[in-house]
Amino acid sequence: MKLEATAMSNYHKPVMLQQCVAGLNIDPEGIYVDATFGGGGHSLKILEELKGGKLMAFDQDKDSKHQAESIVSHSFTFCSANFMHLKRYLKLNGVSKVNGILADLGVSSHQIDSPERGFSTRFDGPLDMRMDKAISTTAATIVNEYSEIQLHKVFGMYGELKNAKTAARSIVQHRVSTPFVSTRDLKAALLPIAPRGKENKYFAQVFQALRIEVNDEMKALEDFLHQCGEVTKKDGRLVIMSYHSLEDRMVKNYMNKGKVFGDVEKDFYGNEIKPFKSITRKPIEASREEVEQNSRARSAKLRIAEKI
Ligand SMILES: C[S@@+](CC[C@H](N)C(=O)[O-])C[C@H]1O[C@@H](n2cnc3c(N)ncnc32)[C@H](O)[C@@H]1O
Repeated sequence: MKLEATAMSNYHKPVMLQQCVAGLNIDPEGIYVDATFGGGGHSLKILEELKGGKLMAFDQDKDSKHQAESIVSHSFTFCSANFMHLKRYLKLNGVSKVNGILADLGVSSHQIDSPERGFSTRFDGPLDMRMDKAISTTAATIVNEYSEIQLHKVFGMYGELKNAKTAARSIVQHRVSTPFVSTRDLKAALLPIAPRGKENKYFAQVFQALRIEVNDEMKALEDFLHQCGEVTKKDGRLVIMSYHSLEDRMVKNYMNKGKVFGDVEKDFYGNEIKPFKSITRKPIEASREEVEQNSRARSAKLRIAEKI
């Protein structure tokens, strides 16, 4: 087995590495899934713990696939796919049940730090924001083609903008004369309505909303969570790290209630019908030392559940 850890370190620094892997409670002969390979930091650590076991990793970004090519191991399989197809890819690989699943949601440092991907508010770049470049909707499609009502909904729901309606109207008025091309165009159009002194936070919320819509992240997460319930063995672990409240709320609800929205269902006898029991009442957060070394860890919330 050849694991080239150094090649991966610049791509993304894994967050709460020890806590995530400990959360999986690894059986060295078990089958595990890393649903968000990224630069492979978590995958490498899981592979170190396996003896006879298997790791299947997913990522929808082709850059991540290239990273995965540096892992040469019989225990490792990479699926260049959206994790919403979890069950299908497991089946294709002859796997029906797994011992544990890890998902480290959102985007990697590599994606954020690549100006040409358009994810960052810090650089000028194209309004792209696709994790999977094969999909046709980009951030430009959304800001140039969505109706005012659709934009209002996207900014309100996914960016939690207080002035989502005003933002939608500004975009629609601006694009009549000049369609949006770059992230700089978008920021310039929204600057007059951004709260004074909090412009960066405001743009981060706008970009988050667009990224979630472009990549249909909420739908992917919901489909994925339900499949985790179907494919995890009894006593197997689900370990999920999220970076914003919308995701964390869905994860928490699913772990506690078996549904991303609404209340737990009960059978005829009043027993709760849910696949997992949560083993972290409150989410685990990164230590101060880790946040000092890796600012991405600041907003991370880690939740762990066990299959009933
Ligand atoms: C925070 S990074 C993961 C970093 C990784 N744990 C590491 O240590 O390098 C998230 C990764 O998940 C991928 N991703 C996000 N949503 C996805 C989805 N629905 N399906 C597959 N990959 C996804 C992104 O492309 C990105 O590479």
